[in-house]
Amino acid sequence: MIVTRGLTRRFGDLVAVDRLNLSVSSGEIYGFLGPNGAGKTTTIKMLTGVMKPSSGEIEISGLNMDSAQMEIKRRIAVVPDEPRMYDNLKGNEFVRFIMDIYRLDKRQTSKRFEEIADTFGIDYLGKYISDYSHGMKQKLMVAIALMREPEVIFLDEPTVGLDAASARKLKDWLKVMALNGATVFMTTHVLEVAEKMCDRIGIIDNGTLIAEGSMDDLRASSGKSEYSLEELFLELTGNGQREEFSHNLGD
Ligand SMILES: Nc1ncnc2c1ncn2[C@@H]1O[C@H](COP(=O)(O)OP(=O)(O)O)[C@@H](O)[C@H]1O
Ligand SMILES: [Mg+2]
Repeated sequence: MIVTRGLTRRFGDLVAVDRLNLSVSSGEIYGFLGPNGAGKTTTIKMLTGVMKPSSGEIEISGLNMDSAQMEIKRRIAVVPDEPRMYDNLKGNEFVRFIMDIYRLDKRQTSKRFEEIADTFGIDYLGKYISDYSHGMKQKLMVAIALMREPEVIFLDEPTVGLDAASARKLKDWLKVMALNGATVFMTTHVLEVAEKMCDRIGIIDNGTLIAEGSMDDLRASSGKSEYSLEELFLELTGNGQREEFSHNLGD
């Protein structure tokens, strides 16, 4: 459902994403894990057609990003790290706007949306989006993404603005979506999040995919099964991030 070949993005001299080869199947929850600045957001922007690669190829649902970008955008949903929404709309107006854009069946979709909004405790749809916190926007974006029942859902650091209970519910919803055949691609800089939520993990550091597999695979390939996950991750991404990661594990 997601294939990249040699996917590369440069910013001047900096190679933010370096010859990335990914392959994610239908029904998989894939975690793209790496320290800050590793290239996760840049990758997700390219995969969702928001940013052009410097070189390399992207296929989503068997469609090429160069030739079928609009069709790809119809089939995917994205929860960006900094949700940009229409500040002058109320939440419920924004939801209706999205239903119009994607020409979704109003009755059916509203019912589904209400169920999702209910589990996430979204009770602020009558207020203007300009008054929402980051977490409130993020929850609404998650609910809208789930409401659309996309073939592939991309989430960039989805748990950053979410409280623990909402993160747990997000995990449950993503599992149900994956069981129904959707593909989930999410980034995180928090090891625990990847471990709890993902079937398979790719570790990116300085733009390069340095390890990939299930958590068990990753442990086995490091040959140090007694290692804690944190130690494993630190070993793979070098030692410089220890403080940052110890800190983030407490999130
Ligand atoms: N628009 C941009 N212009 C220049 N450099 C950028 C831009 N976007 C990202 N970068 C750089 O690319 C690298 C990867 O960034 P990013 O993909 O946001 O990392 P992550 O999401 O893993 O924290 C960083 O060094 C970042 O500073
Ligand atoms: Mg990022």
